[in-house]
Amino acid sequence: MESLAPQVVAQEDIPVPEEAKQPEQYQGGIHTNNEGHVSKYFHYYSKLQNQQNMLMDTIRTNTYREAILSNKQDFEGKIVMDVGAGSGLLSIFAAQAGARKVYAVEASNMAMNAKKLIEANGYGSIIEVIHSTIEDISEDRIPRGTIDVIVSEPLGSCLVHERMIETYIIARDRFLTPTGRMYPSSAHLCIQPFYDEYLYNDQVGKCAFWNNKNFHGIDMSVMYEKAVMEKLAQPIIDTYDPKKNLTKNPERLVFDFEQGGCTLQELQDIDFFFRHRIETTGLIHGYSVYFDAIFKGSQKYVVLTTSPQAPPTHWWQTRFLLREPLAVNRGQLVNGYLKMRANKEQTFDATLKVDLPILNISTEMSYDLKDFEFRGLQSQPDQSAYNQGGGYQQQSQYSQQYPQSTYGNSSSYSEPTPEAQQISWQF
Ligand SMILES: C[S@@+](CC[C@H](N)C(=O)[O-])C[C@H]1O[C@@H](n2cnc3c(N)ncnc32)[C@H](O)[C@@H]1O
Repeated sequence: MESLAPQVVAQEDIPVPEEAKQPEQYQGGIHTNNEGHVSKYFHYYSKLQNQQNMLMDTIRTNTYREAILSNKQDFEGKIVMDVGAGSGLLSIFAAQAGARKVYAVEASNMAMNAKKLIEANGYGSIIEVIHSTIEDISEDRIPRGTIDVIVSEPLGSCLVHERMIETYIIARDRFLTPTGRMYPSSAHLCIQPFYDEYLYNDQVGKCAFWNNKNFHGIDMSVMYEKAVMEKLAQPIIDTYDPKKNLTKNPERLVFDFEQGGCTLQELQDIDFFFRHRIETTGLIHGYSVYFDAIFKGSQKYVVLTTSPQAPPTHWWQTRFLLREPLAVNRGQLVNGYLKMRANKEQTFDATLKVDLPILNISTEMSYDLKDFEFRGLQSQPDQSAYNQGGGYQQQSQYSQQYPQSTYGNSSSYSEPTPEAQQISWQF
């Protein structure tokens, strides 16, 4: 019987990619975060109920399954690494696609459950569960440059929240063969201006208490502006009617995950400069941020989109409200800059600056990504937008952009359960 041990490639034959040579501050990965925070994070993922939340996101699970099983050519006879295997779902898909060997690397105690699940389903001879962080795997255990395909679901709200993509890139730089494949191969961070008077007034209205001039005889109003700034600094996670977008298309910042692609520095110091031409006269109340993950399989391109025009996923969209709405006219150009800096709490300090060039008007807000406000189903999208073409329009638009692509299957769309909505920002 053929040995399943990975072939050992002589170390000197494997070029160390330039991007792997990071200055100290850009080492990135799990160990550049606060220990206490990381321990809470892995505790969260060690619970079956929190893995279930992700598994039950039908769009997410079906799209990953389709990306892997529609590209068997990329997996047959190959050595695969599943970065952050969780319950082992993606490892099992890779084995079903014909992988010769899968390393399912999971840092949390979920690793024990993954092993049990994998063995109970008859994949124990192909999938080896490694209970470790990716960062701590020694090259004696898995030699450098020996993995043909890396699969992972490291995606967070605003794409990069949780900072797990850094771990995905560390795995690439250490273990992928020079011609190996990454699943997903890239992701686009998308941004779009929207109007939503109800949302804006609702959030500001929650601060009315601090405008009270006679609370037990005390004038509280000196605190009002501070209270409003604090409230608006909370990014909102929900989904909304895409008709509220003031442009048809978002601007995109592309992260290429493949060999020679994005670096740890690019994942920690994010400078997203964008410019929109407004298509609907109105007020900009804020900017919506979401992502697409793209699987460039050799047989089929598959796209996982979290756009407001597509059926919702457990990531929903993240909306950043401005301090004051900005009045804009159709045809007007609006410049923006989203600056994100990684911090030690597995997330980012974010600032959004928006300029109306000719009018010399600009506004700036800082946001606290440790403190999302989850609104879930409170602001539901107009379902008719899906039925009457909102979602389908988006699909055909993407099909042009990514030839051969397919999407999370809208016919199998089911509303995420209330539990499924709690994911990602709880720990
Ligand atoms: C978003 S979940 C995805 C789980 C599974 N792959 C799936 O698709 O259902 C991310 C998983 O990666 C694990 N993880 C995060 N950072 C890791 C690291 N540095 N090394 C190993 N595992 C990690 C977490 O514990 C969690 O189980």
